Amino acid sequence: MKADTELATDPDAGATAAAEAEAFLTADDVVMTFGGLRAVDGASFDAPLGRITALIGPNGAGKTSLFNVISGFYRPRSGVVRVNGVDRTGKPPHVMCRHGVARTFQLTKALARMTVLDNMRVAAPRQVGEIMFGAMLAPWRVRAQERANTTRADELLERFGLTRLRDSYAGELSGGQRKLLEMARALMLRPRMLLLDEPLAGVNPTLGVQLLDHVQALRDEGMGFVLVEHDMDAVMRVCDAVTVMANGRTIARGTPAEVQADPVVIEAYLGAEDD
Ligand SMILES: Nc1ncnc2c1ncn2[C@@H]1O[C@H](COP(=O)(O)OP(=O)(O)OP(=O)(O)O)[C@@H](O)[C@H]1O
Ligand SMILES: [Mg+2]
Repeated sequence: MKADTELATDPDAGATAAAEAEAFLTADDVVMTFGGLRAVDGASFDAPLGRITALIGPNGAGKTSLFNVISGFYRPRSGVVRVNGVDRTGKPPHVMCRHGVARTFQLTKALARMTVLDNMRVAAPRQVGEIMFGAMLAPWRVRAQERANTTRADELLERFGLTRLRDSYAGELSGGQRKLLEMARALMLRPRMLLLDEPLAGVNPTLGVQLLDHVQALRDEGMGFVLVEHDMDAVMRVCDAVTVMANGRTIARGTPAEVQADPVVIEAYLGAEDD
């Protein structure tokens, strides 16, 4: 039987693997406003699979706003977001997930009161049991899916070194362990591209290294990542490509070494310091 927890493949997938690798997730001339403020002011961006793409820039550059647009959290005022070549602009996060694009979410108070394992299980894609007729007509399918979800959850907990905390309440985890759990939860959706907004913020250096090791290992298995991050050492060490934002626009892109040496980028950071 086909498990319902299988890869979040794109039903419209017609693109070749090469085209996917070129640009699985793209944002084209995106504008996002808060009232009169243009938080994103014509930003373009792309992220391939099998690569870690960093989105960097000074405070207030619009990184989180663009991140929220490409993860389906905010609807842009204009511009286009494509997944695997198909226009998905303004689609909500759960739809973006179905097409292979997921993001992490901070553990809420409600989740903190659940065990680590249950946190993983509720993160699984839409359950058959949630659909009443499905549960009544095919209870064995529900049970099979629950078993598959638990197996997947245990595999991920093992991978992230969280197995011994399986039955602890998520609220009892340290800050760093929570970050690992947030990432493990997002992987229950089997995304092809995972978006992380400041994954290292508030994480101790040892755990930060561990977290990035996981990201690199998953990248080597073919997943794509978009990383919004202020820790430049980390960005330069692990990212394959860097896009730089300033004043709502994407102002440079290239390898870490290229953007580091780009006068436009240096100017943007220095300019921001003067503010
Ligand atoms: N919810 C909001 N309501 C109003 N203005 C907002 C909101 N979120 C962000 N902004 C404004 O939009 C602009 C871009 O903010 P954004 O958070 O996207 O920047 P950022 O690059 O993520 O910054 P940081 O590095 O500090 O996280 C800023 O001027 C910010 O004040
Ligand atoms: Mg931000």
